[in-house]
Amino acid sequence: MESTGQGAEMVEKALRIGIAGLGTVGAATIRILTQAANELAERAGRPIQVVAVSARSRGKDRGVDLSGYRWYDDPVEMACRTDIDVIVELMGGAEGSARATVEAALDHGTAVVTANKALLATHGRDLARRAESHGATIAFEAAAAGGIPVIKALREALVGNEITRISGILNGTCNYILSRMEEEGLDFARCLKAAQELGYAEADPTFDVEGYDTAHKLALLTALAFGTEVDGDAVYVEGISGVTPLDLLMAEELGFRIKLLGVAERTAQGIEQRVHPTMVPRTSQLAGVMGVTNAVEIQAQPVGAITLVGPGAGGGATASAVVGDIVDLARGHRVSVFGRPSGALAKPIRAPMQQHEGGYYVRLQVLDRPGAAATIASRMAERGISLESILQKGRGTPRSASGAVPVILITYATTELRVRDAVAAIAEEGVLDGPPQVIRIER
Ligand code: HSE
Repeated sequence: MESTGQGAEMVEKALRIGIAGLGTVGAATIRILTQAANELAERAGRPIQVVAVSARSRGKDRGVDLSGYRWYDDPVEMACRTDIDVIVELMGGAEGSARATVEAALDHGTAVVTANKALLATHGRDLARRAESHGATIAFEAAAAGGIPVIKALREALVGNEITRISGILNGTCNYILSRMEEEGLDFARCLKAAQELGYAEADPTFDVEGYDTAHKLALLTALAFGTEVDGDAVYVEGISGVTPLDLLMAEELGFRIKLLGVAERTAQGIEQRVHPTMVPRTSQLAGVMGVTNAVEIQAQPVGAITLVGPGAGGGATASAVVGDIVDLARGHRVSVFGRPSGALAKPIRAPMQQHEGGYYVRLQVLDRPGAAATIASRMAERGISLESILQKGRGTPRSASGAVPVILITYATTELRVRDAVAAIAEEGVLDGPPQVIRIER
């Protein structure tokens, strides 16, 4: 390939970067920007220089040389500098320092690159407006699915399509835990502990395992896919802590695998955004995605279905996305934050979860009493729920102390409201030992 390194581009003014947050992603970003400086300068048409950094602790060894950069104890002070072209915000969190830093940068007309899904899912609409009114922009490839370039795919490469549905495995921690639970027949708590020991889960794992991290990422993808304002509050969220080894065993027996999916879809009722454990056919692409890997399936017209698979977390993968955004800015490539001017983003009509339509897996611990099965079937039938299959006492599922046995019902397409209503009515009959388990099915 012919080098342009000696050409006119190399006398272009450098793009000056300030990085707020020097955790694994911040350090990896500095590593790429320094080690590949010449290559990136050629590709961008101008040098990219880190000029300033900010983090909580100055003395910490991060494995990168920070001596050439100005240090700021206060990231907001750094974001107010007019001699910095791009603030890279890698602190995280929807409020506090991260929000103040991003707002300060935008108010000074400085572009922001961020991996902060919580911030954008919560304040994305206002931040996009703020960026526009000051001639700035926000790039956030690293905020959803880490190293997978799904933001660029939705906002740019697929711009000629109508997107109808997105479904994805957007949290590596959850996918790792579910994969281990299935492979080793272990319960949630033991696999969570293993994930923490390996550094795949935080000391406080709530945000990941209860689905909020996935919900934030999904809210961003939804806005890009459907041209709507970010509506993080509208996401229905259920995490994986209630999934049991028995459910994984039953899923296998029925030809499914359980994944924590984020799904965004246009329905007759509006836009559905939901995060929950989901039975997916074992033969599907998403079912084959194991461990910490992420995947996003996009259904669009006219292109059809596209699945992007890759690393969704980790320093290198996330820094890859951050550097991609920085080089875009160095090249002068700017697009509206959510793919169109914020005033052109539609107010989303929320499809209520109660009206969600689909198949359901219902697992009941049923007491061994004459008529119990008939009662269960009646409560379902009364609500117009049609059963595709009933499975009693699966492989390796001994009776509980009370003599209750697991009964699995698989429904044909019905609504969330009907299933919840039927399950509540069954619970009132006194034929169950323990709470029912309900898992949605996506075919
Ligand atoms: N904790 C996330 C995950 C990565 O496990 O995928 C950052 O969002």
